[in-house]
Amino acid sequence: MMVGITPYTCRNALRQIRSLHTAAVQNAEARLKTFSIYRWNPDKPDEKPYMQKYKVDLNTCGPMVLDALIKIKNEVDPTLTFRRSCREGICGSCAMNIQGTNTLACISKIDKNTSSSCDIYPLPHMYIVKDLVPDLNNFYEQYRSIQPWLQHKGIKKVGNQQYLQSVEDRKKLDGLYECILCACCSTSCPSYWWNGDKYLGPAVLMQAYRWIIDSRDTQTNERLEKLKDPFSVYRCHTIMNCTRTCPKGLNPGKAIAEIKKLLANISQKPQAELPASP
Ligand code: SF4
Ligand code: SF4
Ligand code: FES
Repeated sequence: MMVGITPYTCRNALRQIRSLHTAAVQNAEARLKTFSIYRWNPDKPDEKPYMQKYKVDLNTCGPMVLDALIKIKNEVDPTLTFRRSCREGICGSCAMNIQGTNTLACISKIDKNTSSSCDIYPLPHMYIVKDLVPDLNNFYEQYRSIQPWLQHKGIKKVGNQQYLQSVEDRKKLDGLYECILCACCSTSCPSYWWNGDKYLGPAVLMQAYRWIIDSRDTQTNERLEKLKDPFSVYRCHTIMNCTRTCPKGLNPGKAIAEIKKLLANISQKPQAELPASP
């Protein structure tokens, strides 16, 4: 440590910098941005959904839409309801429709133009629990239906040995395993809007493909067999809204096309480069 500089003087200097910063922010002219947010309260079923406007000073708000929502909830209206957890695009819980696009509020920058409002709705065509919170029960039920776990017939003592996979086979999962199941893609898909009870939708189908193509999984035929009905996969008409909207830059539309090729025997799952069990 340099002579004369103690932890106490460092803390003091930091405190002074912070209070200077706060004073500068308070003195700056307020930059008021309007957020127009969908509201619906299940405890008032006779009241129709409506848009509520809030003004937020961008000088005292973080840069992301989620920062504004948290600020409104903390400082203006604690009844405003939305989901969030990680605030860094990992958990998928803050998915909503911002300015007409399904995306994650925590990684969406606030448009600094204060002359236009920021319009926020819940994910479209979903039943609403409250305000910006959609009911995802059907979505998770569909995810459960594809059995999203590794299934390998042949390993006798599960947990006693590792499943082998070559580097090249592992690469086939890239672009699939990163999905955070935010449901932005499924709720942007017109086919899912109309047939969400029977069509599995892009998010779940991409996960189905993630397990179908895994070289260690031996249930490929059984998995494909379950998707053969007219609705589960074939309601996809390759409109590609799903791929356009994915906030993680993934391509569920392509994964669905790969499933269709496997179902039609146009392509085959490649032979595993390594036997999963030694
Ligand atoms: S594919 Fe993208 S948009 Fe769809 S659930 Fe996964 S991360 Fe979300
Ligand atoms: S490509 Fe298929 S899953 Fe994606 S939006 Fe279009 S119809 Fe929906
Ligand atoms: S809060 Fe987790 S993805 Fe936005």
